[in-house]
Amino acid sequence: MKAIAVRRGEGTPAIVEKPRPDPAAGEALVRTLRVGVDGTDHEVISGSHGGYPEGEDHIVLGHEAVGVVVDPNGTGLSEGDVVVPTVRRRPNGSNDYFARGEPDMAPDGFYHERGIDGAHGFMAEYFTSSAEHLVRCPPEIAELGFLVEPASITEKAIEHARASRSAFEWSPESAFVLGNGSLGLLTVAMLQESFDRLYCLGRRDRPDPTIDIIEELGATYVDSRHTPVDEVPEAYEPMDFVYEATGYAKHAFETIKALAPNGVGALLGVPNDWTFELDGGALHRELVLHNKALVGSVNSNVRHFERAVESVAALPEWFTDDLVTGVYGLDEFERAFDDDDTTIKTAVEFGSR
Ligand SMILES: NC(=O)c1ccc[n+]([C@@H]2O[C@H](COP(=O)([O-])OP(=O)(O)OC[C@H]3O[C@@H](n4cnc5c(N)ncnc54)[C@H](OP(=O)(O)O)[C@@H]3O)[C@@H](O)[C@H]2O)c1
Repeated sequence: MKAIAVRRGEGTPAIVEKPRPDPAAGEALVRTLRVGVDGTDHEVISGSHGGYPEGEDHIVLGHEAVGVVVDPNGTGLSEGDVVVPTVRRRPNGSNDYFARGEPDMAPDGFYHERGIDGAHGFMAEYFTSSAEHLVRCPPEIAELGFLVEPASITEKAIEHARASRSAFEWSPESAFVLGNGSLGLLTVAMLQESFDRLYCLGRRDRPDPTIDIIEELGATYVDSRHTPVDEVPEAYEPMDFVYEATGYAKHAFETIKALAPNGVGALLGVPNDWTFELDGGALHRELVLHNKALVGSVNSNVRHFERAVESVAALPEWFTDDLVTGVYGLDEFERAFDDDDTTIKTAVEFGSR
């Protein structure tokens, strides 16, 4: 079967031939439909994030997949089920995080991430997965199933942000999404129902397709070149919830000032090392005196995937049409890895349902 992988030292994805996998006990065999591409894939390709499976000279890419069960292999799944795989797997034997169904909370060394770190991903014509890591998806949204994994990232971040505010009556009205990449735009769409006023940060000139989407969703576009994140309260309003998806490290700290009293910021970006100056005293004081919180959030578990399936099913059709700028077959898979200003979200298509 064909798979898309990156070989050690090569820095570009390529098609490789691999044997079709046989499901082990407890695993199902899945025929892949589509696999999405995101910023993490680009980081894996460039070698700045993740790592190869032990003893292998390549890693099969892809962690945002949807497929159809072709061999349930005695698991509770049925042939024809449309499924979305979660990303984290046990490295060796079980550990408490996986036993509790919370692999997303496991520290380094207690997990592999398929397609990212230590385990092959799903960009192949077939993949196997233990059934406990496969989440059923309604067939009607099979073509959009590759959006479930990124949506699950947001479900987890919202859950953790809300949990940090659960000790008191918190009625947020304003939300500010930092970043107009695919994760940021998906999050604006997911937050639309829960917040009265939505804002989204970018750094682009009009005309731009992401600004069009932001405004079509009823959100206000904020340009960080004109309004730095920490000046947003004066220019617009203080924010009850900030969702950072730029990976721009200063935003993590500027978020503290952007928040309203009792607000919470969820940090999702994964920046490189960067040393810069900031007034730590002022930020520390701001967090304390106004009961603010910052929550870091990575990965997601089955519960978040289940909620994400519902969120993806509820996305307006015009939005997914505009968000997904390209779905490419294996004959032109390289185009799915383009990363210019007209590309928002892409996927590689391995087959149809
Ligand atoms: N925590 C997790 O589990 C998790 C999961 C998935 C992704 N992530 C991280 O989340 C972040 C977003 O993911 P993504 O796939 O949406 O990445 P992306 O496509 O690279 O999007 C990032 C967006 O932020 C914008 N941006 C960056 N710096 C900015 C600034 N100073 N002012 C305004 N806008 C700025 C970029 O604008 P331009 O395009 O104009 O440069 C880009 O549109 C990444 O850091 C990714 O690694 C985390």
